[in-house]
Amino acid sequence: MRRCFLYKDNYRDFLSAPIKIRGKEVKNRLFLAPMAGLGNVAFREMVAEFEGFGLLFTGMCSAKAVPQENRNISNVFKWRDEELHYLVCQIFGAEPKAMALAAKRIEKEGFFGVDLNFGCCAAAICKKGSGAALLKEPELAKNIVKEVRDAVSIPLFVKFRSGWYDNPIDAAMHAAKMAVMFEEAGADALVFHPRVAPDRRLRPPKWEHIKLIKEAISIPVFGNGNIFEPADCKKMLNISGCDGISIGRMAVAKPWIFSTIANGFLPDNDIYQKTATRMITLLLKHYDERTAVKMFKKIVPYYSAGFKFGHSISKQLLRPDNSGEIYRVIDELFTKSSQNIETMERPNLHLFL
Ligand SMILES: Cc1cc2nc3c(=O)[nH]c(=O)nc-3n(C[C@H](O)[C@H](O)[C@H](O)COP(=O)(O)O)c2cc1C
Repeated sequence: MRRCFLYKDNYRDFLSAPIKIRGKEVKNRLFLAPMAGLGNVAFREMVAEFEGFGLLFTGMCSAKAVPQENRNISNVFKWRDEELHYLVCQIFGAEPKAMALAAKRIEKEGFFGVDLNFGCCAAAICKKGSGAALLKEPELAKNIVKEVRDAVSIPLFVKFRSGWYDNPIDAAMHAAKMAVMFEEAGADALVFHPRVAPDRRLRPPKWEHIKLIKEAISIPVFGNGNIFEPADCKKMLNISGCDGISIGRMAVAKPWIFSTIANGFLPDNDIYQKTATRMITLLLKHYDERTAVKMFKKIVPYYSAGFKFGHSISKQLLRPDNSGEIYRVIDELFTKSSQNIETMERPNLHLFL
């Protein structure tokens, strides 16, 4: 507690400072959170153009699929060689041996690290015992961490939630116990999203629970959940004393957010148009037309959440069924239209689920 109140006052300097994870230096303490469907190779290329982050995380990849996955065919297990030194690949699964095999492939390919998904609460994932379901199976979760630790020497991250039980004390204590177990089993850093699984992302995360995790273990702890503007970072750091911050949805609304936090980057007004245009261009660079359009549409609601009339913008951007139309609608929205496009500091939460 002492530490966070003293030196995290200057939160920008703190977040811009390097940190070592398993002896490997990370440029700063801001991470792009793993987001299936959103954090694809094209989106990451755009984030990289703005800089300001320490590590980027892929969306979750199936551990069973990773060992034989072809990066030229897969939509998710796909990367640019230039990003590997700051890219962490996240995997999900429920079998220690399969997770270890996937981690070996990830190490062999040259990723910075591997991240275990113990936080996803999507029914399709939990039904198979993966993601947040593992928080109900502490022994199995521990064995997965151990098996992966024994298999690779790259940094090993665990991303997890507060568990399943919506009693504030139980949830926090359970999460702290899990954190100790992950550390003992060989994890090098934890990313903690302080919500119970049934909450999904609906109710506000309990940042004060990140503090319990931080105090329970000695490896770095990264806080996650509802960072919407730079000042939120200061709040989260002061409440929790965490070592860094992982940002998800806001990076889709404003891919330059890391640079704003770390470097004080203030964009021009035309950044919104440029970003939307760049996004579809990069998607077309990495994917075929159909996939690129599909992926653009996944991004649209989160991107639109940064506008005052986001619903209307989202609706217009979701209408096209080909990339040519997407370019035309972007152009019309931002340059030709008489609409006054107002942006907001904090996102429209109805678009931000
Ligand atoms: C569309 C979407 C996909 C996500 N996919 C993953 C995932 O693959 N793995 C994971 O650990 N978390 C996933 N998350 C959760 C985020 O990593 C993060 O914990 C959550 O969005 C809260 O952080 P934020 O408020 O900064 O967005 C996803 C979130 C969203 C919105």
